[in-house]
Amino acid sequence: MAHIIQKPSWHIDEALATPQDAFINRRTLIKNLGFAGLGLAAAVALKPGIASAANDATKDLYPAKRNEAHTIDRELTPWEVNSKYNNFYEFGSHKQIWRAAQALKTSPWDITVDGLVEEPFTIGFDDLLGRVALEERLYRHRCVEAWSMTIPWTGFRLADLVAIAKPLSSAKYVRFETFMDPSVAAGQKQSWYPWPYVEGVTMEEAGNDLAFLVTGAYGKVLDNQFGAPIRLALPWKYGFKSIKSIKRISFTDTRPVSFWEEILPQEYGFWANVNPEVPHRRWSQAEERILHTGERVPTLLYNGYGEQVAHLYDGIEGERLFT
Ligand code: MTE
Repeated sequence: MAHIIQKPSWHIDEALATPQDAFINRRTLIKNLGFAGLGLAAAVALKPGIASAANDATKDLYPAKRNEAHTIDRELTPWEVNSKYNNFYEFGSHKQIWRAAQALKTSPWDITVDGLVEEPFTIGFDDLLGRVALEERLYRHRCVEAWSMTIPWTGFRLADLVAIAKPLSSAKYVRFETFMDPSVAAGQKQSWYPWPYVEGVTMEEAGNDLAFLVTGAYGKVLDNQFGAPIRLALPWKYGFKSIKSIKRISFTDTRPVSFWEEILPQEYGFWANVNPEVPHRRWSQAEERILHTGERVPTLLYNGYGEQVAHLYDGIEGERLFT
């Protein structure tokens, strides 16, 4: 009997993939920082042959039903491209971290919810998934480095996590923290970085329907290099806000200072909403390069999600909303 192998809609031949060194990357950025000793921010040794520590207990939850309210008019970035071009500084300050990232053990994985909540708690990742409904959404992703991609994420609304957390009315922000383990993530031995990686959003942003906690991609459990077992996706903001491999979620009345803001406050701020008219201090944000085709297209205000999110910023004046 003949097998008919159907390629998923995001599949393209590897040969069509863009050469991946053709644009500004974090390495260039780090070189330009002028820190003493940053030459040490060289590649983390890749560890070939490490089996993926994928989260087997939850694998039957995929593929989840696609939410048709979240589709897009761009071709999806092929997994083959996306999964080999990642920013995950814990595993190196370059894009080829996918092998090194397999060393992270993502099961069991506990997440601590604390701060201004009725009762702080720690919950196992598998238990958390038992309390939410997963769905698939097609999202754009616009990196501050001016490249973009389009991904089929699976996950649940950040608002659902907020409901489980039961924050107090005094909570104004949600602060996220990545795991900390220099024994598996060699990048965390680079002491000039303010580890662990931290990000934050306002309570209003956390309640927006677009704010998504991602546990899967391309119809399966999240690969380690994408930030397994759980990461954020905030598609109207620059990609660095979408923190990976979250271990701690804290509710607070103090605005969190994020990883990149702490390193370079003159270039990266708290809000980091996408805006083609506000250049980065060292390059334009007017256009973006689509990762797998190499095509340059105009960047859209709020990455095209203005209708859903622009109101979140009404009345906020005198702040750098777009860096
Ligand atoms: N989260 C952690 N913990 N560490 C990181 O280095 N990089 C950020 C973001 N989340 C990063 C992170 C940046 S700069 C981008 S563009 C996206 O992850 C990249 O996501 P991707 O590799 O899935 O494309």
